[in-house]
Amino acid sequence: MRLLSTRHLKGLLKSLSKLIEFHDVSYTYNKGTPLEKKALNHVSFSVDKGEFLAIIGHTGSGKSTLIQHLNGLLKPDTGKIIIDSQDTSGKGLKQLRKKVGIVFQYPEHQLFEETVYKDIEFGLIKHNIDEPERKLRIQETARIMELSDELLQKSPYELSGGQKRRAAIAGILVLQPDILVLDEPIAGLDPRGCNELFNIVNNLYSSKNITVILVSHSMETVADYAKRIIVMDNGNIIIDGNVNEVFLKDEELERNGLSVPQITKLMKKINLKNDKISREIFTVDQALEEIISYLEGKHD
Ligand SMILES: Nc1ncnc2c1ncn2[C@@H]1O[C@H](COP(=O)(O)OP(=O)(O)OP(=O)(O)O)[C@@H](O)[C@H]1O
Ligand SMILES: [Mg+2]
Repeated sequence: MRLLSTRHLKGLLKSLSKLIEFHDVSYTYNKGTPLEKKALNHVSFSVDKGEFLAIIGHTGSGKSTLIQHLNGLLKPDTGKIIIDSQDTSGKGLKQLRKKVGIVFQYPEHQLFEETVYKDIEFGLIKHNIDEPERKLRIQETARIMELSDELLQKSPYELSGGQKRRAAIAGILVLQPDILVLDEPIAGLDPRGCNELFNIVNNLYSSKNITVILVSHSMETVADYAKRIIVMDNGNIIIDGNVNEVFLKDEELERNGLSVPQITKLMKKINLKNDKISREIFTVDQALEEIISYLEGKHD
């Protein structure tokens, strides 16, 4: 028997840990018409199980188009997409949609049942989950999403903006996806609603080993929660790296109509006046730590 070399074994193990693979994916809307628009241009990347990835890019750069390829809503014109070893062009779309839960912008617009409970139950019925199991899952998801029993019995129309958003996300989470994709999840929410939602998502990420993909225009949110960032421009991935690497490229980001977190800009200005204070700061908590440690004389 031929033994695998260490190099081959490493390659094999690496490919096994990949949950999402995009290989040279292109997509054009309205092909062959005057409205033709190439929205993805030979995009390749992969995501490992358990990553928290943010996708950023100016408006129209292709972020939503990319995520709609994750559960087969859109099919690539060229290239292929593998999710958990399954090619999305093949059969098994129902299974794929259970595996990849996508929360689109303003998901509450899709709430339509008489009660929040029934709305969350809708997907479970579609997937033929029996009643006792449905009840258990809804209770567990409502607890995670901080939706009380009283709230579950209300009409979605009686809920606040933040509650509606959480109810809509509960309808996706109850299907127990391995991958949770959030497209601009905080659009239109007040700061309290944003914090509540992200604390829940972050707890879920830490406790359930779920893979999270977040599309956001808020660089603060991205810095607070994501570990890796993909930057898109005109259907291309132009930067792919960890949060520190990407946010240190402030000039390149600005050339592409993007920005770094406000706190990073401030710390860069302070660093220009006093280089003992680091400019590699991306969140308010990191800034606080850096300033306190400077004031305590730890930088001398
Ligand atoms: N259904 C559609 N029909 C035709 N063109 C579309 C359609 N959806 C998107 N496009 C075009 O494809 C390109 C990429 O759009 P996409 O919605 O993926 O961008 P985005 O990065 O999500 O933007 P935003 O930040 O505004 O949400 C844009 O030029 C857009 O106008
Ligand atoms: Mg979009």
